[in-house]
Amino acid sequence: MKYILEDSGLHPNNCVMSSILPHDVVVEELWGNARIDPLLAQERVLAERMNSRRQQEFSAGRAVARRAVQRLGLEPLPLLKGANGAPLWQDGVVGSITHCEQYCAAAVASNSAYRGIGIDAEPNKPLPEEVRPFILHPYEVAWIASAPASAMSWDTMIFSAKEAFYKLWSSVTGFWCDFKDGYVQIDRAKRAFSLSFQDNGRMNRLTNCHSMSGMFHLSNGIILTTVVANW
Ligand SMILES: CC(C)(COP(=O)(O)OP(=O)(O)OC[C@H]1O[C@@H](n2cnc3c(N)ncnc32)[C@H](O)[C@@H]1OP(=O)(O)O)[C@@H](O)C(=O)NCCC(=O)NCCS
Repeated sequence: MKYILEDSGLHPNNCVMSSILPHDVVVEELWGNARIDPLLAQERVLAERMNSRRQQEFSAGRAVARRAVQRLGLEPLPLLKGANGAPLWQDGVVGSITHCEQYCAAAVASNSAYRGIGIDAEPNKPLPEEVRPFILHPYEVAWIASAPASAMSWDTMIFSAKEAFYKLWSSVTGFWCDFKDGYVQIDRAKRAFSLSFQDNGRMNRLTNCHSMSGMFHLSNGIILTTVVANW
């Protein structure tokens, strides 16, 4: 798997993920096949024990993150990671990284504007049958069964929404959260979703609402999802 910057033909300010994030969130993305910027020295230490596929996606994530931080007007520092795998963003920055085959993105913003960001990308294909029971809440199973025919694999879109939410949730609260602790409700017309916990009190760690909203988009066979938490 290799990546190329701006292979989508879009200017970075107008990249696909930007269309489902607020304007003051800076996004950089890579599509397709090509070389990427090398890791910084301290990042290379983290990558030493990774296999080559993992090194490639890790490097792609660091490359887009560095470019995004630069576009925020900051000098990028090595982007290390915490024990839970979350990127340790430099002071003043919140952000999130995602990669899947043929796509990689980083979204960053000032921590004075946002508490956290979560982004995710998944190939638009159905979840394996045996995985669905571990991911989908009964509400979601019923919604998918009654949804009109669509190019979107809704089970994977819901999975992606939960992954994006988890990245935000984990980096802000430090807590774990299981796929079936919450359920996603989808507004197809608005490309929007909300995620609610069955335990209402949990979301209060992140927001004063009982649910959190996000956006989704399908582009070039990739499902993209985003969530942001304001102060
Ligand atoms: C961590 C996790 C969300 C990564 O998602 P993924 O779809 O497998 O992979 P992606 O490429 O989209 O994202 C990987 C990136 O997420 C980031 N990440 C990893 N752990 C993270 C965490 N705890 N918090 C925030 N970001 C994290 C990293 O930047 C990582 O890339 P890197 O290691 O190259 O820096 C996923 O593997 C996981 O553990 N999920 C289980 C928990 C969950 O999602 N629960 C649902 C709650 S409703």
